[in-house]
Amino acid sequence: MTMKKSTSKQFIDPWKTIANNWKLFCAPGRPSPRNILDYEKLLYSAIKGVKQPKILILGSTPEFRDFLTKFKKAEITVCDVNIEMILAMTELMKNKKAATKEIWVKSNWKDMPLKKNYYHVVLGDYIIGNFPLKEYPQLFNKIRCVLDKKGCFVSRIFFYNPDAVENFNKAANKYLNRKVTRKTITDFWMEAYFRGPYKKSGILSGKKFKEKMDKYVKKNPKIKPLFNKIDQILSPYNKDYNFYNLKETEKSLKKYFVIKEKLPEINTTLSKNTFIYKLLSKK
Ligand SMILES: C[S@@+](CC[C@H](N)C(=O)[O-])C[C@H]1O[C@@H](n2cnc3c(N)ncnc32)[C@H](O)[C@@H]1O
Repeated sequence: MTMKKSTSKQFIDPWKTIANNWKLFCAPGRPSPRNILDYEKLLYSAIKGVKQPKILILGSTPEFRDFLTKFKKAEITVCDVNIEMILAMTELMKNKKAATKEIWVKSNWKDMPLKKNYYHVVLGDYIIGNFPLKEYPQLFNKIRCVLDKKGCFVSRIFFYNPDAVENFNKAANKYLNRKVTRKTITDFWMEAYFRGPYKKSGILSGKKFKEKMDKYVKKNPKIKPLFNKIDQILSPYNKDYNFYNLKETEKSLKKYFVIKEKLPEINTTLSKNTFIYKLLSKK
């Protein structure tokens, strides 16, 4: 009998091993200073005039936690199912002392044990790729439930774009003669994996990505130093993602939220696959 892999094994657990190597990775996989300015622009209306804004971070993104220290009175809650990731991301914060004031919650986002109608802002960076479409209702309803009536959910969201699909070999060829840096590691990963061909299921398989790497490196040993770094981050390649096209993604969002604003991702390898959304709960 074949057992169906649980979503936690496929999408969530692998973060435990990715955690320690997150430092090898940079924007656009992580939010850039420009993204942070956009996030601030989008969340501002929800906390304007609020004495003690309550802000919930889905995940443990260090860039959010550093930037939010400017709101001195805000109550910051960090919710991540992997405590390993919260600890590793705290090490990447510029202002580690700020972490001592945060509230940490270990939970799957789709069933967070948090107060109803409490948060003015819920923030997340590329979070929904960790869920298959069928789990969106539970996730989005949970976010709606913890949001204050006037609160907003602000997130970069990745969508599959048929016009931005990269062929693995073509993408890899571009990096054959490049130095291995955080930028080349990130850009190669984003182009060759995230922008790889779309599967009908929406699932992007880590193992399939590794198979393509193995095949390529046999003919192109020069790529080894770059692939070794990717191995260091992604091995054993057990992390899968779910992506859907813009129409499908927004159709799902609109069942639960009103899209109040969306800002483009400018001048990065993910420009054609990302918007930062400001979402309000649908009444
Ligand atoms: C916010 S996502 C960052 C996405 C990343 N930029 C990418 O491209 O995949 C990563 C974080 O989400 C956490 N995480 C993933 N799925 C989760 C879930 N269902 N519930 C709670 N935390 C989850 C992971 O532990 C990790 O710390």
